[in-house]
Amino acid sequence: MIVLKSRHEIGLMKEAGKVVAGCHEALREIIRPGLTTLEIDQFVESFITKHGMEPAQKGYRGYPFAACTSVNDVVCHGFPSEYALQEGDIITVDMVALHKGMHADSAWSYAVGEISDEARRLMEVTERALYIGIEAAVPGNQISDIGHAIQTYVESQGFSVVRDFIGHGIGRQMHESPEVLHFGPPHRGPRIRKGMAFTIEPMVNVGSYECKVDDDGWTARTADGSLSIQYEHTLVITDDGVEIITQQS
Ligand code: MF3
Ligand code: CO
Repeated sequence: MIVLKSRHEIGLMKEAGKVVAGCHEALREIIRPGLTTLEIDQFVESFITKHGMEPAQKGYRGYPFAACTSVNDVVCHGFPSEYALQEGDIITVDMVALHKGMHADSAWSYAVGEISDEARRLMEVTERALYIGIEAAVPGNQISDIGHAIQTYVESQGFSVVRDFIGHGIGRQMHESPEVLHFGPPHRGPRIRKGMAFTIEPMVNVGSYECKVDDDGWTARTADGSLSIQYEHTLVITDDGVEIITQQS
């Protein structure tokens, strides 16, 4: 069942989304070689809590950290650690803020110093894929139109779209209906309508789309060791159409 959000609830989600976007903007300034992924996690946790909100990923289904920090071949859900970022790394940082019962979720990717042409192109294609998905998220379209647009674009660029992790409805729960696939045929699933809130969060691999999960039960990597990147926004559908509530300035 898809829970439609009231104007009040959307207002709270927008406040949470502003904090998440602000945190990503701040990360853009501090991410550099030598910073550990644990320091990124601590930065995210204190940024969200100092704005009076909760870092909702911490404790979610036993996930131990405020942020997911996914470096190079890590697709998603990478554990923060003592690993110090190195020149040439690419990292996706994923976070969720919980504000007065409502969630906002966004993952963004960062280059550490100078990166390879391949890594740069992967970042550009994946960010573009997110916005192509958002363009398909217009009221009246169906949910699967989003994934179809994303897959068509990503594969035209020679990369692949991860199947094992998908976007989701969001609101009082971090994960709600509907499922938002980033691949597959168009014209399936519920129609997009006012009051819906969901994420679009494509993960794109240079090589094959297959993933494997480490023994920690969380860290998902590309099966072939190739690079992977993710960009994620939370969207709400209002009278004016699609609104990105985690947009950075
Ligand atoms: N923010 C993630 C998402 O996009 C959720 C990560 S699972 C968690 O759905 F355990 F880390 F919270
Ligand atoms: Co997320």
